[in-house]
Amino acid sequence: MSRLVSLCKRRGFVYPASEIYGGLNGFWDFGPLGVQLKNNLRDAWWHDMVECPPLGPDGKPLSIVGVDTAIIQHPKAWVASGHVGGFADLMVDCRETKNRYRADHIMVEEVLVAKKSGEVKSLGLFGYVDKDDLQKKLKKFVQKSGGGDIKYHEPSNPRPYTSLSTNERSQVIGPDAENPGTLTEPRAFNLMFHSYTGVFQDEDSKVYLRPETAQGIFLEYKNVLDSNRVRPPFGIAQVGKSFRNEVTPRNFIFRTREFEQMEMEFFCAPEDGLMWYEFWVAERLRWWEEQGVKKDNLFRHIIPESELSHYSKGTSDIEYRYPFTAPEFGELEGVAYRTDYDLKQHQEHSKVNLEYIDQEQNRRYIPHVVEPASGLTRGVLVLLCEAYQYDESRASPEWLKLKPSLAPIKVGIFPLVNKDGMPEVAEKLYLDLRKDYTCQYDAKQSIGKRYARMDEAGTPFCVTVDGDTLKDQAVTIRDRDTAQQERVALANVRAYVKEKLG
Ligand code: GAP
Repeated sequence: MSRLVSLCKRRGFVYPASEIYGGLNGFWDFGPLGVQLKNNLRDAWWHDMVECPPLGPDGKPLSIVGVDTAIIQHPKAWVASGHVGGFADLMVDCRETKNRYRADHIMVEEVLVAKKSGEVKSLGLFGYVDKDDLQKKLKKFVQKSGGGDIKYHEPSNPRPYTSLSTNERSQVIGPDAENPGTLTEPRAFNLMFHSYTGVFQDEDSKVYLRPETAQGIFLEYKNVLDSNRVRPPFGIAQVGKSFRNEVTPRNFIFRTREFEQMEMEFFCAPEDGLMWYEFWVAERLRWWEEQGVKKDNLFRHIIPESELSHYSKGTSDIEYRYPFTAPEFGELEGVAYRTDYDLKQHQEHSKVNLEYIDQEQNRRYIPHVVEPASGLTRGVLVLLCEAYQYDESRASPEWLKLKPSLAPIKVGIFPLVNKDGMPEVAEKLYLDLRKDYTCQYDAKQSIGKRYARMDEAGTPFCVTVDGDTLKDQAVTIRDRDTAQQERVALANVRAYVKEKLG
């Protein structure tokens, strides 16, 4: 993971936000390559969701339309959705270090130390978030408590901090603390950022930055229904920024405080909800595979009934095997059957009738909703993790095996040397190809270094104009994955790239 993070910084995929001021925890900026990759993933999703949605079980194309709703909505919308009252994590503060942790992330173990004499002594109750951090910390504690003749046991019996009694909690040494008893009791902490509209900053002018794009869709459901030729089953999709004041942002761009989501609410008749839920789980798994994610690295985690939100009749997380969760998996996308909960809530709070009148069947109902909700920025992380390759035998040991159509740069175009008519031919090709494909022209450094730079950017094809080009009107095209070169007629380069990109 640390190699990937440094590659991302070095090549301009992702930088820490506000870095010259020391960074801001939970915020990241996308650089030139990163924004291109993110846009490509977004466009692939939008294309496959809105412009060319999948075929339904009856073999006919589904009807899905797009919206782009405001980040700040009426504050009552967040009361209705349950986010004002309930969108909270239990968190724990450390009075010694001023660090804040999600209560469910802290594990606690009693660490026993065996002296060479055989005497066994307790070093105390240690809280930790990351087991590796605990090991480092223990080494220091063992040294402090008597020097080199002490060996510590591997901690072996972790318990969640939340399961401890108040008395036990008061003895825990916090994950980054030196002294026991500095962690607070778990307290609810609302994850929504807030601000104020207008001149006065009081409770009446308080507004929230949306913590999910989904609610904007529910708020526009009636307008979309009334102004378009759609009727259930149909979907409304949205891509955009969401904000959550996460207690513990971590793992690069996995959990951040500002992020992007790609969400679609699929409205259907109540009796069809479970069928569409299964349909979308299968469809979304298939889609991630189509983006180049290996089947083995994806996992459908069916949330047990006892853990479902009260309104959900089924939720599955599509999980990915991240380097920091391996061999286990972590969430990439959630597919939730949310029943009619959200629309009912908004109907009740807004007093606007949100029923659908089905004239064919002569009935009215509040549609049920199946929601595939995925992180765009988290999706970029998955693509990067999946694409990252390390191979000592290559000129650039680190390279990105991205699906060609998602790669930030599709074609690198180089004159072998910057003279003898080669730059002119290469520039002409560049001016032609860049109209349809993201290309990069590069005439600096040795050809090997230029290939290596393109490998690190995940560029699938590199076209080199060499000394023979002027005679045979052909160029070499190097394939990123095989590092093999092929001689292709200059006039056929466009067709070659088109065919390979599919
Ligand atoms: N509307 C439902 C919803 O928002 P969620 O599981 O909270 O559900 C959906 O979020 C997806 O959004 C997640 O699967 C994840 O990919 C992404 N996501 C959520 N919180 C995130 C965060 N703090 N940073 C990055 N991505 C996040």
